[in-house]
Order: sequence, then structure tokens, then C-alpha cells
Amino acid sequence: MYKEGYQSNYEDLLKMYTVWMKKLPKRFTPGDFKVRVGKSRTGKGVFAEEKIPKGACILEYTGRALNDWEQHNKSGKYFFETGKHSMIDGNVPGNIAKYVNHACKPNCEIDIKNKRVFIFAKRTIKPGEELTYDYDTEYFDEFIKPKGCLCNSCSPVLA
Ligand SMILES: C[S@@+](CC[C@H](N)C(=O)[O-])C[C@H]1O[C@@H](n2cnc3c(N)ncnc32)[C@H](O)[C@@H]1O
Ligand SMILES: [Zn+2]
Repeated sequence: MYKEGYQSNYEDLLKMYTVWMKKLPKRFTPGDFKVRVGKSRTGKGVFAEEKIPKGACILEYTGRALNDWEQHNKSGKYFFETGKHSMIDGNVPGNIAKYVNHACKPNCEIDIKNKRVFIFAKRTIKPGEELTYDYDTEYFDEFIKPKGCLCNSCSPVLA
């Protein structure tokens, strides 16, 4: 029993290492932009503290690779699909990208390369603006739709 667990941990580590070793094009290097985690309408959110130019790579969404069993039997609000048969759990220390919320008209977008997830600015982002991207339909239907979307387009703040 112990041996099986040990083997599986080893395979998970090897999988993660293989992903990290693949060289990525230069554009997949997060810039050193000042962002902060703060309070938003949905709990926590990530806010720009300086102007971020359109097209800039802002953050990597890091996490622990899930094994096949976990992919089929578990679900979590920080799970992120990185390929047809691969998923990570972003609930790990240091992954502030896990606090980026969904918006129907977002200012960021996701690009996945070599099973790694990056958040890019879809347009110029002003200091103070909350970073958002469009979650996929599957995630939206499971986690956002039942309670209603709180993004600025769906639930505008009334002055
Ligand atoms: C990846 S987390 C984002 C960070 C989250 N606000 C927190 O404090 O942990 C995704 C979760 O945040 C909430 N969320 C994100 N965007 C939302 C939105 N537009 N409307 C309502 N809830 C949202 C949902 O509970 C969702 O499952
Ligand atoms: Zn919305």
C-alpha cells in the first residue's frame, strides 16, 4: 500500500518536472508588474497597482498536477484544465493567480503553453483595476451560474 502511494507521488513529481523542463517562448515570461491581492465582490481578487500594457504576460497560474483518479473524481474551485488529459490544482502557496476572478468582458486572457497557464493583458490595464479573465463554460456553469455572475457587466455597481 505504502509502495503504491510512493510510486504515484514519484510519477506526479516526474510529470511536473517534465512540464517545467520544456523551454517556453520568451513571451511566456511574466513581467514584474506590481499587483496585489485584495478584497473584491467575490471574496479575494487581484488588482493592478501600475499600468499594464496590452499583450503583457502578467502572471503564471501554477499548481500541483492532478493524477488521473483525481481528475475524474474530484473537483475544486482552483482546478485548472491544462490540456485534454491534464489538470492542476492551483491551491498552492505563492499562486496569487488563483485569486483572479471571472468577468464576461474581461481585461485579461489565458494562454496555455506546454501545459502551463499564463495570464496576459487583453488590453491596457489601468492602476487600481481588478484583473479578470473569462472562465470556460464548464467552470462557469458549475461554480458561477448557480449563484449568479458578479462581474461588472452582469451586476453593475449602482452609483
Ligand atoms: C479561482 S477563484 C477566484 C478567487 C476567489 N474570489 C477567492 O476569493 O478565492 C474562483 C471562485 O471565485 C468566485 N468568482 C470568481 N469570479 C466570479 C464572478 N464573476 N461572479 C461570482 N463569483 C465569482 C467563485 O466562487 C469561483 O468559484
Ligand atoms: Zn458576468
